[in-house]
Amino acid sequence: MTPSGGDFDVVTGAFSYSGAAIASELRVAGRRVRTLTGHPGRAPAGTPIEVRPLDFADPAGLAASLRGARTLFNTYWVRFAHGQVSHESAVAQSRVLFQAAAEAGVPRIVHVSITHPDADSPYPYFRGKAAVEQALRDLRLSHAVLRPAILFGGNGVLINNIAWLLRRLPVFAVGGSGEYRIRPVHVHDLARLAVQAGEETETEVIDAVGPERPTFVELVQFIKETVGSRSRVVRVPGSLIPPAARLLGLALRDTVLTAEEYQAMADGLADTDGPATGETSLTRWITDHQGALGRSYANELDRHFR
Ligand SMILES: NC(=O)c1ccc[n+]([C@@H]2O[C@H](COP(=O)([O-])OP(=O)(O)OC[C@H]3O[C@@H](n4cnc5c(N)ncnc54)[C@H](OP(=O)(O)O)[C@@H]3O)[C@@H](O)[C@H]2O)c1
Repeated sequence: MTPSGGDFDVVTGAFSYSGAAIASELRVAGRRVRTLTGHPGRAPAGTPIEVRPLDFADPAGLAASLRGARTLFNTYWVRFAHGQVSHESAVAQSRVLFQAAAEAGVPRIVHVSITHPDADSPYPYFRGKAAVEQALRDLRLSHAVLRPAILFGGNGVLINNIAWLLRRLPVFAVGGSGEYRIRPVHVHDLARLAVQAGEETETEVIDAVGPERPTFVELVQFIKETVGSRSRVVRVPGSLIPPAARLLGLALRDTVLTAEEYQAMADGLADTDGPATGETSLTRWITDHQGALGRSYANELDRHFR
C-alpha cells in the first residue's frame, strides 16, 4: 500500500552518495524530489531536484521544507568525529530532523542505518546509530530502517581507496588475521530497497546486504589482482593499523580509517549471515570497473568537513 501524502519526496544529501542514488531511483519512478543538503553548491546545473538547506539550527525551516512530502528518505549521519562534529551531535541533529518531519506531518520515513546498531556497543558510531533508530521508533510514525554494512558502487570511498593504495604502495597492511568478513551492498541496490520501502506503510527493519561475503584479506587480494597491483599484502598486528592509518591520513590530509572503523570491522560488525537483499555482485562490479578504480583518491574530509 502506498502512503498518503504529497506529490514529492524529500531525500537528504541528493548530491552526495547514497542520497544521490535514492534521488535518482525516485526520479526514475516518476517522483518529484526535494533534497535537504549542506552542499547546495554541488547541485548539477539544471537539476530537477529542489534544493533546501539541511540546517539543524532551523527546525521551523526544516519542517517547512518537509511539509507536504510523502516520504522522507534520511541518509544523514557523520562517518567520524572531527572538529565540532561528533556522533553524539549527529544523534541530536537526527532527532531535530525527525521532529521536524513529525511536525510537518510526513507520513513515512525511510531511514538508512547500519548493521548491528547497539545501545551497549563500545563504538560511538554503533551506539549512536542505535540511539537514532530509537528516536525514530519513539516518533511512532510509519517507518522503515535499512541496515547496510558497507556500500560500494558510484563514487564510494572504501573500495576505491583500497585500490588507490594498492596501485601506489609497495606494501598493503591487513590488520590481524584479515579473516573477518564484510558484506557490501551496491548503492543502487540500497536505493531500490529504499524506494520500495517508501511505497509500504508497515514499520520494518531490513538488512541491506549483497550476495557476497568475502573476508577482508580475500577482498584486498581480489582488488590487487584485478587492478594489476604489485603491492605485497602483509598481515600485521591489528594494533598497528590505527597509527599506520593516521600517518597515511597526515600525508593525504584525510581521515583514511579510524581506529573504531578498523576495530568494528575486525569484530565482524560489517558482516551478517542473513539472506541477500541486494543483487549486485561485488567481484563482478570490481572487475567491470578495474580500469577506473583507484585512479584518484576519494577524500572524506574534502567531501564533508571542508
Ligand atoms: N558509505 C557506507 O559504506 C555506509 C555503510 C554502512 C552504512 N552507511 C550509512 O548510510 C548512510 C548514508 O551514508 P553515505 O555514505 O551515503 O553518506 P553521504 O552521502 O556521504 O552523506 C549522507 C548525508 O549526511 C550528510 N553528512 C555527511 N557527513 C556530514 C558531516 N560531517 N557534517 C554534516 N553533514 C554530513 C550529508 O550532507 P551533504 O548533503 O551536505 O553532503 C548527506 O546529507 C549513513 O547513515 C551511513 O551510516 C553507509
